[in-house]
Amino acid sequence: MTVVAPSLLSADFARLADEIRRVEDAGADWLHLDVMDGHFVPNLTFGPPVIAALRPHTRLPFDVHLMIEPVDPQLAAFREAGADWITVHVEACPHLHRTIQAIRQLGAKTGVALNPATSEETVRHILPELDLVLVMSVNPGFGGQSYLPLVEDKIRTIRGWIKERGLATRLSVDGGIGPSTAPRVLSAGADVLVAGSAVFGAPDAKRAIAALRGSIAPEP
Ligand code: DX5
Ligand code: ZN
Repeated sequence: MTVVAPSLLSADFARLADEIRRVEDAGADWLHLDVMDGHFVPNLTFGPPVIAALRPHTRLPFDVHLMIEPVDPQLAAFREAGADWITVHVEACPHLHRTIQAIRQLGAKTGVALNPATSEETVRHILPELDLVLVMSVNPGFGGQSYLPLVEDKIRTIRGWIKERGLATRLSVDGGIGPSTAPRVLSAGADVLVAGSAVFGAPDAKRAIAALRGSIAPEP
């Protein structure tokens, strides 16, 4: 089952609760929350207080994508704010295995994100510890950037490892995902689609989500 996770980064920040309700009613599966620190990435968004304020407004699982460095001191605050999935960047975590264990101890699902230039080898050995791998198909920092097709080989390789080892790890793709790029990442093996501008920027969010979901025939 393909999961569609609209990224709040492209929502109207003056009306966040309404925007979340709009995509929840439109059939979103998860809500993707992009946390940026102006240091690991060249942009700033929001932190635990905003996430905590939004938590009572929706039943959607919160898929929190942390683009911050250092990350370890902040993990508990994001979990307390309501993060169900916590994804950290391999490039921001010198002791990645320890960070993953800390996320698990907090009771959240564990995720690791890879920038476009980062090799899949960085997660190969810890794959059984991960509930999610997030392959970035743009350089993180901004919504509305163009999809980088170079990520498709990486998606295929990671999907192969997940299958070989019989894991339940989710494989997510984030950046430039819309109706024309979704089929490419789905056929490469992704099963979570993060989409900001393609959902929040569309006049009809329900159609936009259906277009992403229906962009490939289900496996027989
Ligand atoms: C980029 C963020 C993405 C972003 C995607 O750093 O991680 O989640 O919001 O936006 P679109 O779908 O517009 O590329
Ligand atoms: Zn993201």
